[in-house]
Amino acid sequence: MTLIKQPTFHQLFTTDQHAVRAELLAGLTAPAAHTSPKYLYDALGSRLFEAITELPEYYPTRTEAAIFARHAADMAAQLPVGVTLIDLGAGNCQKAAGLFAAFAPSRYVAVDISVDFLRNALLLLQRQHPHMALVGLGLDFSAGLTLPDVAVPADSPRVLFYPGSSIGNFTPTDALVFLRSVHTACGHVPGSGLLIGVDLVKDVAELEAAYDDALGVTGAFNLNLLLHINRTLGTNFNVREWAHVALFNTVDSRIEMHLQARHSLTVRWPGGERAFMGGERIHTENSYKWTLPAFESLLLKAGFQETQAWTDPGQRFAVCWARAL
Ligand code: AVI
Repeated sequence: MTLIKQPTFHQLFTTDQHAVRAELLAGLTAPAAHTSPKYLYDALGSRLFEAITELPEYYPTRTEAAIFARHAADMAAQLPVGVTLIDLGAGNCQKAAGLFAAFAPSRYVAVDISVDFLRNALLLLQRQHPHMALVGLGLDFSAGLTLPDVAVPADSPRVLFYPGSSIGNFTPTDALVFLRSVHTACGHVPGSGLLIGVDLVKDVAELEAAYDDALGVTGAFNLNLLLHINRTLGTNFNVREWAHVALFNTVDSRIEMHLQARHSLTVRWPGGERAFMGGERIHTENSYKWTLPAFESLLLKAGFQETQAWTDPGQRFAVCWARAL
């Protein structure tokens, strides 16, 4: 009789509501108001992001998928056999699952803030891959990645998988700190490394359209942040008083998303208030765009030994393999 495995789940992160409120209030009351992009992803924000990935203007998701479809076998040729595939920000696990046939991992570890996001996806995957070890890990790795021994065996080679150009939401300084922690998390088995997607610098009009689409889905994604803040802080933001702004900052090589007050207004919450002048902005997200040489040198600076990259014919996006040791 062959035994069908069951996924295992480990929830290692708990939200500190006090810290969340303190961080949001500090950003809202700063002279140049700002919020962390992680607050864009409440339940509705996550669904709006899914919708963004299907927009004609938002090229990163489909371009990256095309790179994987075309080059998965070449990528697999770089990897050791029997890898543990560790998916950072796994969500519905579909991107990684699409690589199972080429990479033949012995174990798949899906990492997300909450194992509740992973439960259904992993149960479904287990039916399709009854003999693969599947693990769900609830972890916040945004400030640095540490993998627990319970989920990742020390003696198996590791492929850390970080697609989607989420690295673009880190400043270059924070990206270096994060990538150093990923390099350490690759462990000690030769051949381990990081497979990462990165969005490349391109024509400004194409970049700005990707973050300000004709249907207004990215605008809704950005404005929904105000509803999330209202629920979290008890603020009285009125979405109709704010406009979505997306622009490419050529000096810093990043798309910036802002929410701009349509007129002078005051936002109130229990115990405080903040006045905004008409035109004043809340900076809600950065999405850095890299040149391939600059990104590969960042990977080397983070401690990786060697890099290899695959891009699409239009050089819009790149997937890089960085061997850790
Ligand atoms: C998740 N992250 C890589 C997306 C990006 O392109 O920076 C988030 C996003 N923001 C607006 N559209 C998409």
